Amino acid sequence: MIDLDAARAVLRTNDLGGYTVPTRTLYPFQWNWDSAIIALGWHCFDEQRAWQEARTMFGGQWSNGLLPHILFHHESDSYFPGPDIWGAKSRVPSSSISQPPVWALAIARMLRRSAAAAAARDEVRALLPQLVDYHRWWYRDRDRHDSGLVDCYHPWESGMDNSPAWDEPLARVPGVEWEYQRRDLGHVDQAQRPTWQEYDRYLHLVEVQRKNKFDPSRLAAASPFRVIDIGIVSILSRATSELIALCRQFGLEEEAESFQAEIARTERAVGRCWSGEHRCFLSWDQISNEPLAEITTATLLPLFGRLANDKQAGQMASLIEEWLAANRFPLSSIHPESPRYDPECYWRGPVWLHINWMVADGLRAYGYSQLAERIKEGTRKCIEAAAGSGYFEYYSPETGQGCGGGDFSWPAAVALLWLNE
Ligand code: DGY
Repeated sequence: MIDLDAARAVLRTNDLGGYTVPTRTLYPFQWNWDSAIIALGWHCFDEQRAWQEARTMFGGQWSNGLLPHILFHHESDSYFPGPDIWGAKSRVPSSSISQPPVWALAIARMLRRSAAAAAARDEVRALLPQLVDYHRWWYRDRDRHDSGLVDCYHPWESGMDNSPAWDEPLARVPGVEWEYQRRDLGHVDQAQRPTWQEYDRYLHLVEVQRKNKFDPSRLAAASPFRVIDIGIVSILSRATSELIALCRQFGLEEEAESFQAEIARTERAVGRCWSGEHRCFLSWDQISNEPLAEITTATLLPLFGRLANDKQAGQMASLIEEWLAANRFPLSSIHPESPRYDPECYWRGPVWLHINWMVADGLRAYGYSQLAERIKEGTRKCIEAAAGSGYFEYYSPETGQGCGGGDFSWPAAVALLWLNE
């Protein structure tokens, strides 16, 4: 049995007053997509606290609509790189990139499930213009030629930092040559974290952002890392469809129409990422103009985004069936037969519970309920097998051992919102 009291306790422990950190020392600030999933967790037992999470996040939105991937609400020396390295002059100190846009989906779900319906409607009415601006930012600044497929400028923006899908595009990014002290390695074993070479390159990309004054037209030409992340594309599309429904409900017809056109554009364009050979949708390197042929859990997210047709969904389901057979604890973040598979290293093999939730949701939507149920059962087993509270940043697909940060907020939120159903 998983312990939901422990899940609630994890969120309370990580509550810094208005926002929830992913975990106390490794990630001591508010992270964008973590926070959206955390809000869904809060909403299962404290609706007001859930809305507050959203309000705090949107309090850090830039005037151009960007919702940063980190809001540095206070100072902390347990994390690097901090706001001085990012160099953004925002109201709330922040990074200058975003993260997979889960928020519209979270807010729509919170509204649907609210016991305090009138209060929830007031919250949504107040947040909706900001949500609209956020989605406009994606479609305007990250899809400058209206291709239907938005760009991603940093592996941190994908949320799947050291995914092997980024190995080749990241290899062309030069590394910084100045010295710095990584703080993550004070909390987590190096074997479970990105390499120093990857960090050098991540930091160079932060410098590129700063030197180009965060200007989208300059960055489109200057960023040495520019990919179509199929994970972001899928989550954006699903969240936009939820946003359209909210816009209609609250009388924003014009906005709903224009987002409908964006979704239609994505649906027309996404076939470019389909690979029959791999039985999934691949991310794409925009600079070399080539597909990134690594099968990761991001390549399954078009199911969550409702972007696959029935035939493609069938092929993806057969891929997932084999994938499930290869691991004791589903779903490893990359296909276990990949030569780059590493069961304990961050996004190169471990299981991430919020991704399991998304993939299972997608499978169910396409009629593959049994596969979805197997993923859900496996997710429970991860929490049961892990030590302590059971809520870890990620898990070994082979032993279920918890890895990365402990007492971690999003697995706790996923347990509350999904495993409790
Ligand atoms: C990190 O610092 O590891 C984060 O994933 C960046 O968002």
